[in-house]
Amino acid sequence: MARPVAKRILVLHGPNLNLLGTREPAIYGRTTLRELDRRIQRHAATRGVEAVCRQSNHEGQLIDWIQSAGREGFGAIVMNPGALTHYSMGLRDAVSAVPVPVVEVHLSNIHAREEFRRHSVIAAVAQGQISGFGPVSYLLGLDAALEAATGRPARRAR
Ligand code: DQA
Repeated sequence: MARPVAKRILVLHGPNLNLLGTREPAIYGRTTLRELDRRIQRHAATRGVEAVCRQSNHEGQLIDWIQSAGREGFGAIVMNPGALTHYSMGLRDAVSAVPVPVVEVHLSNIHAREEFRRHSVIAAVAQGQISGFGPVSYLLGLDAALEAATGRPARRAR
């Protein structure tokens, strides 16, 4: 049986993503976090859902948000864990601990970068990973999260 429609999706941005727009623009582009969040929210609206976007530079805060996502009524999480992707067992354990599906996203193609970025400790416990499409990674991630939350492909809301 299909799960109920997820009306709210939680989007988490990890460390240093508050600096988007000025941080290494050759790699991460010139879109600011505010612009990215607006784009994600507009995309979510076309799917008939609400995206709630949060950013933190702190591992513990991200873990708290993952733990409370179910209680807060989120059907799925789209998360760019930033550098925590590569070493945070705490974040990984939080993803494993909750029933809410998590889609891992990255702006850059982490598999085409430095050796240490090619491994994600999150990927094995996430629903899947989308990497390398700039802001579009989040939009694809949102559609994938909706599919994971509802068992139905994301479709344009009528
Ligand atoms: C990133 C890739 C990570 O390696 C890096 O530490 C980031 C951003 C990305 O979106 O491409 O902070 O997650």
